[in-house]
Amino acid sequence: MTGLPSGAAVVAGVAGWPVGHSRSPRLHGHWLRRYGIDGLYAPFPVPPEAFSTAVRGLAAAGLAGLNVTVPHKAAACALCDRLDGTAKRLGAANTLIFGPDGDIEGRNTDAYGFAEALKAGAPGAPGGGSAVVLGAGGAARAVVLALRTLGYGPVRIANRTAAHAEATAAALGPGVETVPWRERAAALAGAALLVNATSLGMAGQPALDLPLDDLPPEATVSDIVYAPLETPLLAAARRHGCRTVDGLGMLLHQGRPGFRAWFGVDPAVDDDLRRAVAGDLLAAG
Ligand code: ATR
Repeated sequence: MTGLPSGAAVVAGVAGWPVGHSRSPRLHGHWLRRYGIDGLYAPFPVPPEAFSTAVRGLAAAGLAGLNVTVPHKAAACALCDRLDGTAKRLGAANTLIFGPDGDIEGRNTDAYGFAEALKAGAPGAPGGGSAVVLGAGGAARAVVLALRTLGYGPVRIANRTAAHAEATAAALGPGVETVPWRERAAALAGAALLVNATSLGMAGQPALDLPLDDLPPEATVSDIVYAPLETPLLAAARRHGCRTVDGLGMLLHQGRPGFRAWFGVDPAVDDDLRRAVAGDLLAAG
């Protein structure tokens, strides 16, 4: 292998709109180089109205598959011939695997990615007890499902729009409850885990307003925001004595099942990869 793809290279990519912010090409590109695989992983900017034509065309053109990001995850679900249990449950697919006859299998690896990142980032964490999740969007749903699978319960969702929290709890219960957004700080009493699954705290977004006084210092605090890597929430949690898990791990781990399916290697998540995918974020932190 020269490191450059040949005419026989296996090709995959990520479809999003926009897609320029996606770190998936760096992630998969790093793994392709590291394992000396004759492959290519490309970004595809696909507007919503062209999504199904583009995906079917890329499958017909011989791609091995695609990652799917905002705003296409629900549309991807509707397009697939087969779905795994998580994609069905969440109504969203982020990983498509194209079969030789053009059939499309959809998976959702976001819940898996969050669970793996939490286990790796907080190895001694109890893996049970009550958890508070802030947010009720697509990412929050994946987080809640992961936490139930890991044995956390009850999982309490606090979200600015109560109806979204209730819909998420109804879809993912039992063991999932809602808490009014204004009571989010008091809901931290006795929690073993706090996860921010809103966009608050992301660069360019407002900060999350959440006093941590009621959170036990033994708790673990995780943020799915990874730009910046240390969000104001994680910094405050660290000062409070809590173990913290940043958002980069979820991004890295959610990519593993797709890479394995397309390129035939189960890739490692390690510091080398963190530096390759988020070197600029690490430098900023
Ligand atoms: P994703 O797919 O990344 O989860 P999303 O579905 O747009 O993105 O969800 C964003 C989450 O951040 C939602 O829970 C949203 O709350 P609403 O359901 O009330 O919209 C939350 N969020 C975004 N901006 C917020 C803000 N300024 N204050 C509180 N919550 C906010």
